[in-house]
Amino acid sequence: MMKVLVTGASGNVGAFVVEELCRLGESVVAAGTDVRKLERRFGAQAECVHLDLTDPVTYRGALEEIDRVFLVRPPHLGRPEDLYPFIDALKERGIQLVAFLSLMGVEKNPIPPHHKIEKYIEAKNLPYVHIRPGFFMQNLTGIHAAEIKELSQVFIPAGQSRTSFIDAADIGLAAATLLHEPKVYRNTSYTLTGSEALDYHQVAEILSRVTGRTITYAKPGLLKYRHYYIRSRKLDPAYVNVTVALYLMTRLGTAEPVTSDFKQLTGREPRTFEEFVRRHTDCF
Ligand SMILES: NC(=O)c1ccc[n+]([C@@H]2O[C@H](COP(=O)([O-])OP(=O)(O)OC[C@H]3O[C@@H](n4cnc5c(N)ncnc54)[C@H](OP(=O)(O)O)[C@@H]3O)[C@@H](O)[C@H]2O)c1
Repeated sequence: MMKVLVTGASGNVGAFVVEELCRLGESVVAAGTDVRKLERRFGAQAECVHLDLTDPVTYRGALEEIDRVFLVRPPHLGRPEDLYPFIDALKERGIQLVAFLSLMGVEKNPIPPHHKIEKYIEAKNLPYVHIRPGFFMQNLTGIHAAEIKELSQVFIPAGQSRTSFIDAADIGLAAATLLHEPKVYRNTSYTLTGSEALDYHQVAEILSRVTGRTITYAKPGLLKYRHYYIRSRKLDPAYVNVTVALYLMTRLGTAEPVTSDFKQLTGREPRTFEEFVRRHTDCF
């Protein structure tokens, strides 16, 4: 039986893709730059391989006996060209489906790198499915958890805008569904969102209700946020600039649309933000 390669397997979405594919009885190869980390997590379920997308020497070993690929752009690889050599290698292998983790709205927005990456995959004539999710709920337990925990503040520069958050677990389920039936889903695109769009006052309300603490929405300006994340949190300025650009788009309403693609693919309702907070109270 041919196998499915999951890149970014230790990440927010990839980890769920591995688990859901295993549940469907697929043979899974979990890939990343830190094989020990992968083996600790998936050793019993999946094969683990070293893959560095920026190092073509690692491609051959990772692609042995693979006919489908879940492709993640690691957030620190900001240029679309960074992914082209690996996509070229997929073309040489006769892959049946490349499921690319893209971004909601990129079909109309050429600025994020995902736009060019989608176009590159299509131009190579690789069978593709573009998975375009909205904002992950995991941003709240990940990058933005520190201020919630330490200051009881949601410190996100999204103004009054609304966001149709999706749980990365649901993206993983949808991706596995697509990869399990490559012929059915080839050359399609799905926009995955939760079932409701919340503003960040509502986000803070839900966090307060579930944790029993008063958590407020600080509603910082874009510059204040940028300054704080670079100077106090000491995050990479290039990365912070990308998040600032995304929150600028969010303010223009781009994160708000709700789609039914998830239900159509999986037959299930998306997990709600409140369920997510209840499952992760330890992070807040
Ligand atoms: N956050 C959101 O709200 C959101 C919404 C829509 C779309 N997206 C997109 O989703 C993608 C990120 O997905 P995610 O959050 O699941 O990722 P993530 O949690 O940041 O994980 C990134 C993964 O990439 C691997 N990695 C890092 N450098 C690598 C390299 N040179 N070669 C191969 N693998 C490497 C890491 O594993 P190792 O450390 O083992 O290498 C890790 O598993 C981005 O393209 C982002 O734009 C995000």
